[in-house]
Amino acid sequence: MATNERTARNLEAEGKRTAGVFAANQVETDMVLGLGTGSTVQFALERLAARIRDDGLRIRGVPTSSVTATEARRLEIPLTTLEDDPELDLTIDGADEVDPAKCLIKGGGAALTREKIVAAASQRMLVIVGRNKLVDRLGIDFLLPVEVLTFGFEATRRKIAELGCETYLRQDASGATLVTDNGNWIVDCRFEDGIADPVGLEPRIDAIPGVVECGLFCGLASSIVVGEPDGGVTVL
Ligand code: A5P
Repeated sequence: MATNERTARNLEAEGKRTAGVFAANQVETDMVLGLGTGSTVQFALERLAARIRDDGLRIRGVPTSSVTATEARRLEIPLTTLEDDPELDLTIDGADEVDPAKCLIKGGGAALTREKIVAAASQRMLVIVGRNKLVDRLGIDFLLPVEVLTFGFEATRRKIAELGCETYLRQDASGATLVTDNGNWIVDCRFEDGIADPVGLEPRIDAIPGVVECGLFCGLASSIVVGEPDGGVTVL
C-alpha cells in the first residue's frame, strides 16, 4: 500500500474513533440504547464498555445485528430487546453517506432494517461518521441498499429498477448471495446522477411489495457527529 493511501486510511480510522468515543461519552447512566452496526460503532462500543467497567455506567442496549450482539456480549455490555424495552433513549449508529439535510444512506453492513426499526424506536439518533461520509447528494458514490424478501425476488427487483436505477444482488465474500440477519437478500441500487429527492424516494421504494426496507434514513438523525482526524468533533 502506498504511503499516501496508508495515511488516508489512518486519518479515516482516527475520525471514526473520535466520533465513536464522543458519542459514547454523551451516554448517561440508566439510558436504554440502540446499538448500531459497523466499524465506527465498534469504537463507541469499546468506549461504552470502558465506562461500564471503570466508571460504573449503567446501561442496556438493543443490538441492530448479530455482529453487534456478539461484540457487545464480548465486551460485557448488557443487552435487552425491543420487546422488553420498546422505547429507547438514544441510538448511536454509523452511516455510509450523509447529505446536508441529514438524510442518510445506510446498509453497507446489511443491517439496515433492524437499524431503522431501532432508530425509529429511539428519542434521539446520534450518527457517527468521519468527514469522508459527508456528501452533497446521496447515491453518487455509494449504491443504495434495499432489503428484499427472497420470495418473488425477480418481480420485486424489476419494480425497484422501474424507479430508474440499475440493481445488483449483493454477494458475500465467498461469492454466494448474501443473506441478512432476517433471512432476506440485499439489492444495491445505482441511480445515475445520484438520488435527487431522497425524502420522496424512500416511501416509493418501501411501498413496493417484497421490499422489506430501504437504506434511506430521512428525518431520523437528530445529530451528526463528524470525527475530525485532529481529534476534534463537529456536531451538525
Ligand atoms: C450497517 O448496515 C451500516 O448501516 C453501517 O452503519 C454503515 O455501513 C457504516 O459503517 P462503518 O461505520 O463501518 O463505515
